Amino acid sequence: MTSEAAIEAIDVARTYALDGVSVPALRGVSLSIGHGEHVALVGPSGSGKSTLMHLLGGLDQPTSGRLRIGGRDVAGLTTAEMAHLRNATIGFVFQSFHLLSRTSALDNVALPLVYRGMGARERRERAGQMLERVGLGHRVGHRPNQLSGGEQQRVAIARALVTEPVVLLADEPTGNLDQATGAAVLELLEQLNTAEGVAVVLVTHDREVAARARRQITMRDGRIVSDTAAADRPACGEAPDGAQFDDAGHAGGDGTHTDAGEAGR
Ligand SMILES: Nc1ncnc2c1ncn2[C@@H]1O[C@H](COP(=O)(O)OP(=O)(O)O)[C@@H](O)[C@H]1O
Ligand SMILES: [Mg+2]
Repeated sequence: MTSEAAIEAIDVARTYALDGVSVPALRGVSLSIGHGEHVALVGPSGSGKSTLMHLLGGLDQPTSGRLRIGGRDVAGLTTAEMAHLRNATIGFVFQSFHLLSRTSALDNVALPLVYRGMGARERRERAGQMLERVGLGHRVGHRPNQLSGGEQQRVAIARALVTEPVVLLADEPTGNLDQATGAAVLELLEQLNTAEGVAVVLVTHDREVAARARRQITMRDGRIVSDTAAADRPACGEAPDGAQFDDAGHAGGDGTHTDAGEAGR
């Protein structure tokens, strides 16, 4: 059975058990991510953003509520079925890259294709194309420690996209990068969203970046407190009503990314 949404969460809760104490990280969240969407997920630290991203990406299961990924209810899936569904549907990009350190960029990117049973030659060919796509065609043989932070994150993005996922989930992907490098990574994500049509869900603390997404979801204390489309907000690059640029270090920028959204479709 298929469903309209790429990912759908219905009244999802997630409670962690920590030293005999239960920590409610998500307290009933419903949302649906459509194909090709560009969503920014914002909210204070500890509000449940990463917990939600892990659920949306099938890395974790809800304590209660229902979760559908690629039209399939994840409840009752075996670990192997879950891994298969994730491999077919989701790309994940983390703050800390999560690359295999002794493995070349090419083989890092090719790895998710191993689980597809694809032959080595085709894997490497596809991985090479994806590295070209993220501007790293000249770095295929480099290991992560021979690459800059921005290059490592681009390798991670190539790895996330090599399986041609429906949704790319990026949890603070620029958190370990300087401003200019981070801006280039975000621009790449926006380009991939526009050009390849992959839905992007991006967790960010940067209000200017969030404002460029076509949809913005704000979390607080384990709940979604607002979910607005770009049309309801001021145009790209302008501060949303009443926005506090509490991380204003990012607000100036170099101007290269304010017009990168190609949001006009
Ligand atoms: N593995 C865990 N065990 C216990 N509590 C956790 C765990 N992961 C997150 N939490 C708690 O759940 C809440 C939400 O965390 P998180 O989803 O990481 O928030 P955010 O990404 O918005 O900063 C926080 O109170 C956090 O301390
Ligand atoms: Mg987090």
